[in-house]
Amino acid sequence: MEQSLSAQEIPVEDIATRDFVLADVVSAKKALLLPKGVDLSWFGSAKKRLVQRLKSEGVTHIRVFAEKTPSVRDLEELIQRVRGPVKQIDRALACQAVRQLGDVYRRIASDGDGVTEGLFEPLLSTGHILAQEILSSQAITLSLYKMRQWDEYTFVHSLNVALLSGFLASRLRPGDNAFVNKITTGSLLHDLGKAMIPLHILNKPAKLTDAEFAVIKTHPIKGFELALQQGISDEEMLTVVRGHHERWNGNGYPDRLRGEAIPLPARIDAVADVFDALTTNRIYKEAESPKNAISIIVGDAGDHFDPGVVRELLLSLGLYPPGVIVELSDGSVGVVVSTFPGDLVRPTVMLLADLEGQENSLHLVDLRESGLYIRRSIKSVDKRTLDQEELAVNGLVEGAHKA
Ligand SMILES: [Fe+2]
Repeated sequence: MEQSLSAQEIPVEDIATRDFVLADVVSAKKALLLPKGVDLSWFGSAKKRLVQRLKSEGVTHIRVFAEKTPSVRDLEELIQRVRGPVKQIDRALACQAVRQLGDVYRRIASDGDGVTEGLFEPLLSTGHILAQEILSSQAITLSLYKMRQWDEYTFVHSLNVALLSGFLASRLRPGDNAFVNKITTGSLLHDLGKAMIPLHILNKPAKLTDAEFAVIKTHPIKGFELALQQGISDEEMLTVVRGHHERWNGNGYPDRLRGEAIPLPARIDAVADVFDALTTNRIYKEAESPKNAISIIVGDAGDHFDPGVVRELLLSLGLYPPGVIVELSDGSVGVVVSTFPGDLVRPTVMLLADLEGQENSLHLVDLRESGLYIRRSIKSVDKRTLDQEELAVNGLVEGAHKA
């Protein structure tokens, strides 16, 4: 187990304003200076004064849950130990999907409308394999990957959206494997129209002008035309590409469809697309916690999103998805390791104190039985970065646009 999962005792000079106090901090005269549970982000720019105050009271070290959050690898280790209903897709498969998306994207960006036949073939077969992975277990296949570089965003995002869309499809249409296959593959392709959007607009780190947004809004139709040109004739796959920015209330684009007039595959992709975008760091904003992302999406159900699809997301992930670090009502802190469909607020939590290395004293709390409840979520496990060497997509997009 990596040290990062442990609560840490650190010198007061080293506290970061994203740390979280794990034990009461008392002065040499036993006066309470910082109660357990304080989120140091509250101090913001006053951190310096806080450090001075603590030192003047004779405090040299405090126990915190440090800013460095557990990695996906840590979480996987935990999950293996508790065998929760969570599964990760094979890392090599994830890398293959991201690399292929990069290759296709580069070709479209450099060749425009004149792209070669059969360009989508590798993606179609990878989509099929991903769908098999999703179907092979009843577990949630977590979308736990993040991009290493800004340019990779579209590719890694597309993979994550494919995994979550396929999972939602399997829950909404149990037993319909062909449907899951089409949604997964369609979602892998859903943003390829963006390869035809100029990079300075796509990656603009500031608010888009109306004219720029109008350009961005052309990507579903560009992607749809590209897919047709590549010989994709399946209606459901095509609707994912064309319809993933339609909104339940009719205010989306490009066709301003409303409610059930929007094909179900597009309604599924829309939820997965926004969920992954919200939980990913972007140049212009920090990632939301999964809990916040779910709250935002629930708040938009019936407006932006199909309430039926949102309900499935909520039932599947719960309010506290695996990987979220939570504070319990007794003040203890732990990582959510498994969730129960139908019980949104009472997952199983592994206590942080047990992550300090005692392999044999695994302490799991099933909140359905313990009488404890979650006071709040603190942060979530760090997503895994797909390694540069494995991806070999360095400079891919930039190079393509220069060509
Ligand atoms: Fe899109």
